[in-house]
Amino acid sequence: MDLRIRQLHRWFSIAFTVTVVVTFVALAQEDPIVWISYVPLLPLALLLVSGLYLFALPYLRRRRAAARPR
Ligand code: HEM
Repeated sequence: MDLRIRQLHRWFSIAFTVTVVVTFVALAQEDPIVWISYVPLLPLALLLVSGLYLFALPYLRRRRAAARPR
């Protein structure tokens, strides 16, 4: 599960990068397509959620280990 989230975060980062590049190209046009600049927000939101989960992982693991009976 943890590895899955890490891999998802990695792929979301690729998707985010691609959408940012596409946005740069779209906004550089003579008649810019402004709504395209909102597209990176979706992968960014997914990155935020998966990134916060990855951030919390070591703390969750420590808490689980402490709660485990010896
Ligand atoms: C939006 C807020 C974000 C948060 C809260 C976040 C958080 C994190 C955290 C906690 C990790 C794990 C670090 C570790 O190894 O302990 C991580 C890994 C990573 N993040 Fe993010 N991140 C965010 C956005 C991004 C963005 C914008 C990118 C790139 C476009 C990105 C790319 C990556 C990559 C490539 C890794 C390594 C994943 C792996 O293990 O292969 N992240 N991030």
